[in-house]
Amino acid sequence: MPSLALEVESTPDEVVASALKRFEQDRIAISFSGAEDVVLIDIAAKLVGNAFSVFTLDTGRLHAETYEFIDRVREHYDIQIEVLSPDNWDVEELVREKGLFSFYKDGHTQCCGIRKIASLERKLGELDAWITGQRRDQSATRTNVPHEQVDTAFSTRTHEIVKFNPLASWIADDVWSYIRKHKVPYNVLHDQGYKSIGCAPCTRPIKADEPERAGRWWWEHEDDKECGLHAQNLSSD
Ligand code: ADX
Ligand code: SF4
Repeated sequence: MPSLALEVESTPDEVVASALKRFEQDRIAISFSGAEDVVLIDIAAKLVGNAFSVFTLDTGRLHAETYEFIDRVREHYDIQIEVLSPDNWDVEELVREKGLFSFYKDGHTQCCGIRKIASLERKLGELDAWITGQRRDQSATRTNVPHEQVDTAFSTRTHEIVKFNPLASWIADDVWSYIRKHKVPYNVLHDQGYKSIGCAPCTRPIKADEPERAGRWWWEHEDDKECGLHAQNLSSD
């Protein structure tokens, strides 16, 4: 089992390089949300061509622009992107019982659980490590995100999952400087006032002076703005 080996001050490309070196291509993947985390794909492409794996959690509720972007990225980098769908029975049951917008009434946990977390859990069952675009500057829940950690939310007694967060110490400006400098393709929603991008009914554009994730689940309390993908940020582990 590879040990946690990264220095605190590693750069994003050092973190990605270390991650891709330590795990076989079929045991590690970039988790791509269709937003500015495209930087992870660009970094990996510069390091290893197209010899890396990417998946995205298709909730069925993404913006048309995000679907268009995911496909544009696929073509631009000549990579496969595994687009994971939620369990249709679970989605149908939720919608039958509570309608299509239950999250506005009773919070996003159940819908995210069905449309995102279950798919992620299934995918992580096939992997030993994943790479995310989390950054410390994104929210109060992420201020301690390390470059590398054991994923205590998804590891089991018999299967440890390592989570890499190569962009952890970057701020938004670093990401956007990189995108401009390297002419990285980006989601057109970013030009329409969206900073953090999730599902269409749960994301809205924000004003320049608002916190990055203010447009996500804007009807909920700031402390609850983790959908479960990064539930570990809310625990003391
Ligand atoms: S979220 O938990 O609130 O949705 P956020 O949008 O900030 O997360 O994204 C942080 C990182 O989580 C992304 O860079 C990506 O690695 C992962 N992520 C978030 N949403 C998805 C998604 N739909 N598919 C794949 N990865 C995702
Ligand atoms: Fe459902 Fe909204 Fe969560 Fe998307 S972000 S899975 S639509 S609650």
